[in-house]
Amino acid sequence: MIREEEAYPARRRFLKTAIAGGLSTVAAGLLWKNAAALVTGQRAVHGVGIEDPELVQLSINENPLGASQRAIEAVAHKLFALNRYPPREPVLHEAIARYHGNGITWEMVANGVGSTEILKTIGLVAMLDGKGSVEPEPGYGAISGVASDLKRPAVRVPVTMNLQTDLEAVRKAITKDTGIVCLTNPNNPTGQLLPHEDLARFLKAVPENIIVCMDEAYIHFSDDEHYASMVPLTKNHPNLLVSRTMSKAFGLGGIRVGYGIADPKLIERMKPHLLGWLGRNILSDVAAIAALEDQEHIRKVHAHVLKEKAYLYDTLTSMGLKPVKTQTIFVLVDMGKDAQPLVDALKAKKVLIRRASGMPNYLRISVGTRIENEVFIETFKEVLGKAGV
Ligand SMILES: Cc1ncc(COP(=O)(O)O)c(C=O)c1O
Repeated sequence: MIREEEAYPARRRFLKTAIAGGLSTVAAGLLWKNAAALVTGQRAVHGVGIEDPELVQLSINENPLGASQRAIEAVAHKLFALNRYPPREPVLHEAIARYHGNGITWEMVANGVGSTEILKTIGLVAMLDGKGSVEPEPGYGAISGVASDLKRPAVRVPVTMNLQTDLEAVRKAITKDTGIVCLTNPNNPTGQLLPHEDLARFLKAVPENIIVCMDEAYIHFSDDEHYASMVPLTKNHPNLLVSRTMSKAFGLGGIRVGYGIADPKLIERMKPHLLGWLGRNILSDVAAIAALEDQEHIRKVHAHVLKEKAYLYDTLTSMGLKPVKTQTIFVLVDMGKDAQPLVDALKAKKVLIRRASGMPNYLRISVGTRIENEVFIETFKEVLGKAGV
């Protein structure tokens, strides 16, 4: 896999040299291909992990820099062991407990095939007896999805005018029929972060027979220095489950690792419904363990996302648009009218973004590499204002 600091500046330097120095100086086949792309007006973008060199994929909140080099090397070492089952021992659970510290033990960890398995399982556990769910709207909706699959009531609580989760309204929506409340912090797709103290207060106000699921999928991208994860609170709140994904900051979306942290008794309740050790695989185990140990990569990803979010935000603002500041890996733009035609027009030009779910007037643009972001802006300018969009 190409590392951004190795490949991307080098590619840009090449493009500049090719233009300045003349294409006749270029020998290697790959370089000729890039040069031809320039001449014909196509763009060579080469998003990390994307085969089509022209495709700009900013629609599913993936890590634009890829996984940690250490995770890639760990996977490479295991490629000749594909015939072997993953270890039965809780090696990944232990690595996760070590990563979180603060007295979190491996018995407080459940692994999943992405956090999707964790969210589905906690939803199932909470609603088996006929109860339903409460979740903000717009929101990720994983637990509400489980509720509707089980034909349980799925109450959605509108966010405030400034796109913030209304914790007081969520609390009021809890009734005797509620089995689970799910909050995503920072929220997807609104991108807003709830203050830690407000969440701690909220948790105290929720009866202990109701599960509180805190989805912290985007927590690493927060730029609020004072923000603290809810993970340590799992030691004092037996009804709290914190869900984490390794698909975002750790860049392991393709290898599918997520986990939940909760009181061991709640983890025990989940176990009969989780895939367990056979849901893991020999590559994802080693990739996740290596990624957890590579704090430097997380710092690099965080710095990149902050810088590129600022670039997108400033550029969109200078175009007279209304981007929304977020604490996640994406930027929102209020287009003031249905944003789907714009999404479709960009897709026709191989630039994939999406309309924020539950927010029909808003575009959601995941942060890419600088060249991906530039190509998005360039193409966005091309399609804006054209008939129908
Ligand atoms: C808020 C949120 N939670 C959970 C997930 C699921 O992630 P995964 O199953 O890859 O861990 C996503 C994916 O985009 C997400 O946005």
